[in-house]
Amino acid sequence: MWVKVRIKLNRENFKDYVSYSLEISKNATLLDMLVKIKEEMDQSLAFRSMCRAGICGTCAIKVNGKPVLACSTKVFVFGEEITVEPIDNVIVIKDLVVDHESLYNRLKLWKVWYDAGEKNLKVSEETIKRIERSHECILCGICDSVCPVLTTGTHFGGPLLLTRYYKLLFDPRNAQDRTQNIKSLNPDLCTHCMSCSFACPKKLMPEALIKEEEKLLQEKGIIKKREEDFGFLGF
Ligand code: SF4
Ligand code: SF4
Ligand code: FES
Repeated sequence: MWVKVRIKLNRENFKDYVSYSLEISKNATLLDMLVKIKEEMDQSLAFRSMCRAGICGTCAIKVNGKPVLACSTKVFVFGEEITVEPIDNVIVIKDLVVDHESLYNRLKLWKVWYDAGEKNLKVSEETIKRIERSHECILCGICDSVCPVLTTGTHFGGPLLLTRYYKLLFDPRNAQDRTQNIKSLNPDLCTHCMSCSFACPKKLMPEALIKEEEKLLQEKGIIKKREEDFGFLGF
C-alpha cells in the first residue's frame, strides 16, 4: 500500500521550511523517506544514519514534535502531513545532522567507562539484570533533547550521562567508587517529569535509573533527601 506524504524540513540555510511531496510505501521508515528525497528530489539534504537497525543512535530526528529514530519509525504513523526537524538541545551542523562530538566529549570528560578491577569476577544474574538498561543505551541523545532541566543552565548532567553512569555504580566489575562523580552530575536536580522515559526509543526508562542513583547518594549521606516525594510517579 502506498501513502502520499508532504514533508517539511527545517533547512539551516533557508528561513522557511521546505516542502516536498512524494509517494512512499506504507511500510517505509522515516529514514527510507529521507533517502528517497535525497536520491530523487534534493541531493543537498543532510541527515545522518549508519546501522539502519536502531543500534548506532545516529539517526534521531524530530517528527511532528516527537523525537524518534528515523530508521526504526514508520512514516505512516505520522499521517500525511509530516514536519521533520533536528532534535532539540543540541548544536545543528546542517539540516538534520546534529553535533555528536560534544556528546562524546561529555562522556570522556566524565570518564564514563569501567576501571578494571579483579579479573574474572563473577557477576550475578541479578546484577546483570539490574544494569542491562544502562548498557543498552545507544547514545541517540533523544532523552537529553526533551529534558527541560538541561535548558535551564543548571549543572545537571542530563538523562543520557546519568543513564550511562548507572552501570558504573551498580556493577562490581567497576573498581573505582563513582559516587562523587555522580554527585557532581546532580541527579537530584531531575524533576522526574518523565519526558526522557516516554521519549527513549529503547525504553530504558532513564528517569527510573536517575531515581535509583539519587536514592543511592541519599543512602550514603552524600545528598539530603528531598522534601517533596515523587515516588508515586516512578515506573
Ligand atoms: S525525568 Fe529528569 S532527566 Fe528525565 S526529562 Fe525529566 S527532568 Fe530531565
Ligand atoms: S537513554 Fe535512551 S534516549 Fe537516552 S541516549 Fe540512551 S537510548 Fe537514547
Ligand atoms: S541508523 Fe542507526 S539507529 Fe538509526
